[in-house]
Amino acid sequence: MGKYSAVKIRKDANSLIVFDLISERPYSGEELASRVGLTRKAVWKMIKKFREYGIVVEADKRSGYRIVRKPKLNPFDVAAIAFKNLRELVDEVWYYKMVDSTNDAAKRHRKPSILFFAEVQTSGRGRLGRTWSSGPGGLYFTITLQPKIGLEEVPKITLLTGLSVAKAVNGKIKWPNDVLIENKKVCGILCEVQGEMERPLVIIGVGINVENELPRDLEGAGRLVDFSNYDVISVFNSVLKNFYEHYLKFERGEWEHLRKEIIELCSTIGKNVRIQLPSGKIEGFATDISKEGALVVDGKKIFAGDCIHLR
Ligand code: BTN
Repeated sequence: MGKYSAVKIRKDANSLIVFDLISERPYSGEELASRVGLTRKAVWKMIKKFREYGIVVEADKRSGYRIVRKPKLNPFDVAAIAFKNLRELVDEVWYYKMVDSTNDAAKRHRKPSILFFAEVQTSGRGRLGRTWSSGPGGLYFTITLQPKIGLEEVPKITLLTGLSVAKAVNGKIKWPNDVLIENKKVCGILCEVQGEMERPLVIIGVGINVENELPRDLEGAGRLVDFSNYDVISVFNSVLKNFYEHYLKFERGEWEHLRKEIIELCSTIGKNVRIQLPSGKIEGFATDISKEGALVVDGKKIFAGDCIHLR
């Protein structure tokens, strides 16, 4: 704990206001201080923080502070995008340059309504104890939510997250938690739960290969830039926009509508599949996703498992 440091930005943070202002034109320290109700020293500290994140703030004696250059990926733009799209669903963003895993950070913190974002993960985790390669250039984030649902509904959240990514990148959903483009896996989703069965904390981890290097021996994986012109920030923006829409539908009880959309974009349906279950393997023809979010294979509902498309 405490090994990785994050910039923690609340929705009402003064730093977001100052960042916004000095992105547009120069402001004096005094002007900024009075705008946000802080001392000039506090404003100066804020400017220092911006600079630590590679944001180039020009300080002109006459006109004041102004952002002249910034890295595409920085905590303040990421937070602004998260709050704009996810609105009431999140009230804090934790931005890490490096962390073990955004899901693990979320698990340590145990609170809902936070988005954890990392430029790099040193121990990115996939399903079934696998590792998730997480070098620079990829998109890695986790959202924590505490909806009024029981544990049995959580697979639906995995599916609606997959739908959000698939629509953002023109991909297909591979049941239950992958997004593919031309049969290459470009995204994995790791939904975990913590706390009480009746009202669990849902930890939704999303990893998308955008332009990060992938290990050579990683079979079946792909990156967005191999298919089209994508960048981390715009993918993040569109995934969150879709997620908000889908999650609200889910909360309003419109699962049937979402299920239809998922089925339409699900490349597992209509294929012969092999599914590894704790109790052994099953093979069969996938025909549907049930009302519960299970995959229907030869008439049987499969609630979870590792799925391979046979053809
Ligand atoms: C899988 O396909 O097995 C799921 C991969 C999930 C990866 C994401 S990256 C952000 C979050 N943090 C993690 O350690 N894992 C998830």
